[in-house]
Amino acid sequence: MRHLMSPLDFTTEELDKLFDLAEDISANPKKYAHACDGKIMATCFYEPSTRTRLSFESAMIRLGGQVLGFSDGSNSSAAKGESVSDTIRVISCYADICAMRHPKEGAPMVAAEKSGIPVINAGDGGHQHPTQTLTDLLTIRSLKKRLDNLTIGLCGDLKFGRTVHSLIHALTRYKGIRFVFISPEELKVPDYITDMLKEKNVPYKEVMHLEEVMPTLDLLYMTRVQKERFFNEEDYVRLKDFYILDSAKMELAGKDMLILHPLPRVNEISVELDDDPRAVYFKQAQYGVYVRMALILTLLGLAE
Ligand code: NCD
Repeated sequence: MRHLMSPLDFTTEELDKLFDLAEDISANPKKYAHACDGKIMATCFYEPSTRTRLSFESAMIRLGGQVLGFSDGSNSSAAKGESVSDTIRVISCYADICAMRHPKEGAPMVAAEKSGIPVINAGDGGHQHPTQTLTDLLTIRSLKKRLDNLTIGLCGDLKFGRTVHSLIHALTRYKGIRFVFISPEELKVPDYITDMLKEKNVPYKEVMHLEEVMPTLDLLYMTRVQKERFFNEEDYVRLKDFYILDSAKMELAGKDMLILHPLPRVNEISVELDDDPRAVYFKQAQYGVYVRMALILTLLGLAE
């Protein structure tokens, strides 16, 4: 039995197979409409989410399967003190696969150890968000036609943003990747990530202003400041509008520079950019459903 805890759980060859499947699903959705008939997915979300939970549920329903679960830990037995290990043992009796989001780093891994069904980490605290990374990689591969030889800007909350941490780890496995980290001093990428980049000889630079690097980027991954992970409101208020990407800044960008964002957006991308063909964040959300369909099929052993 296989779980998905980190984007590195799949080799790059396995990821290519997964993305080929996701692209086939997007081109031929009818072919897969009954692939999960009779199967049940549990979505156990101990932390708020719109996209991730609903995209998992949409993915399972589009495969002909059914879904059950909870969208708030306070509605579940966790409120009575039940451990995730006990919860997953019980859920294993009710469902065939589980997507779990938890505010505590590592909780889905603890669950996976005791689980009788495949567990997908749907985001654990500020740590990892592997299915967002699969979504991001599929978006880049489909629209840029490659995952190597790219200069990638990541902008915003690089300290607390788990989508950023997962994506950096996943991209270091491809050749010719260069990172440009754009953040205020307080929201820089954690040292364990820059240490890993140094060890792997992956080039990166850290800057504070978007303008100076815009012309050099193949894609720009914008993120919101992660309000819920701040210790005090004052710091959040001071930093939340540090970056606002608008048409004036986009004039400095190349004509093929894609803008990605895991969403939800707060103020960091002006709505005036939504019709710019380089703004692909809503397309990215669509790719998120196809890649989760491919992942469910793969983990249930139904991909062939
Ligand atoms: C992200 C998350 O939950 O980490 N959202 C998502 O899953 N698309 C990004 C965020 O909340 O900022």
